[in-house]
Amino acid sequence: MPVKEPLLEVQDVSVVFRNKKQAFAAVSGLSFQLEQGEILGIVGESGSGKTMASLSIMGLLPEQGFVDCGSIRYRGKELIGLSDREMCKIRGKEISMIFQEPIMSLDQVFTVGSQLTEAILTHEKIGRAEAKRRSLAMLRMVGIPSPERVFASYPFELSGGMCQRVMIAIALGCHPNLLIADEPTTALDVTVQAQIMDLLKKMRDQFNIGIILITHDLDVVKDMADRIIVMYGGNMMEVASREQLFANPSHPYTRGLLRSIPRLDTGNERLFNIEGTVPDIRNMPRGCHFCTRCWHAEETCHEKHPQMIEVEPGHYVSCHRAEVVQKEVPIP
Ligand SMILES: Nc1ncnc2c1ncn2[C@@H]1O[C@H](COP(=O)(O)OP(=O)(O)OP(=O)(O)O)[C@@H](O)[C@H]1O
Ligand SMILES: [Mg+2]
Repeated sequence: MPVKEPLLEVQDVSVVFRNKKQAFAAVSGLSFQLEQGEILGIVGESGSGKTMASLSIMGLLPEQGFVDCGSIRYRGKELIGLSDREMCKIRGKEISMIFQEPIMSLDQVFTVGSQLTEAILTHEKIGRAEAKRRSLAMLRMVGIPSPERVFASYPFELSGGMCQRVMIAIALGCHPNLLIADEPTTALDVTVQAQIMDLLKKMRDQFNIGIILITHDLDVVKDMADRIIVMYGGNMMEVASREQLFANPSHPYTRGLLRSIPRLDTGNERLFNIEGTVPDIRNMPRGCHFCTRCWHAEETCHEKHPQMIEVEPGHYVSCHRAEVVQKEVPIP
């Protein structure tokens, strides 16, 4: 029997920005696989390359940015190098994205209904009445109690949580197989955040879609993701199943992030913040990108870029000192 293709296969992708003065990699060596029905969490601080990684999959990198090397295959089909026309057929229909930037999301001058039906009509050969019927069904499905009213509303008339549901409805309007959600709940309060996460999980269960969930907060992916990638300075630091990552975090950066999770029991602020700041992406250290903030760093870490090593089946870490790190006092 032929081996089934993964839903998405990203191999050694680098995203480079180039202008007259300089060139720098915002993402390098990005590799992962995503299966149908799987949720992959991508976690990292601001500037770690999460958005550029997802825009490279969508073929929507900003001007001056390009995929310098690597391969992005969707169901076995190479996406890098596809023409705009071919990519348009895939975007929205096969792969959808909930954008981090509001400017790329809802248009304030059109009603929710017109944006939703247009999104469906772009890809489906159906009449307007049928598109409206489907739009209302989508709004109902994402938990909007009065779909007719929201259909006729403008985005500015709705709450943040409601707008987020509308964006999910638009993203899922053509029943894509893969959804990329870039920080879908950052601007929302905690209760609404939990509702949106529940909704994404429900959509995965119902339609068996693959989801890439991007966040800077490990807490968000703790109950959601099947696998997690931890990124820092454009590099993958650690990749593991959710269980492995929380039971056996093997990169100092992951450990730092885990200790930053707010303690619910005491109501304290973040327990631990990693000291220092992320270096400028244009001026990253030669060796491990995290070495300037790492309490385990030795000379090698400053000199040599660490390779990914497998510390247990399916659990990879890019750290010269992973063995020592794993022996650190476990996280409470
Ligand atoms: N249009 C651009 N031109 C040049 N550099 C850019 C551009 N857009 C992003 N970058 C750089 O690429 C790097 C990665 O940015 P990216 O937006 O992917 O980070 P992120 O992990 O999504 O951060 P955040 O959590 O703040 O959304 C950053 O250092 C940023 O400065
Ligand atoms: Mg981002």
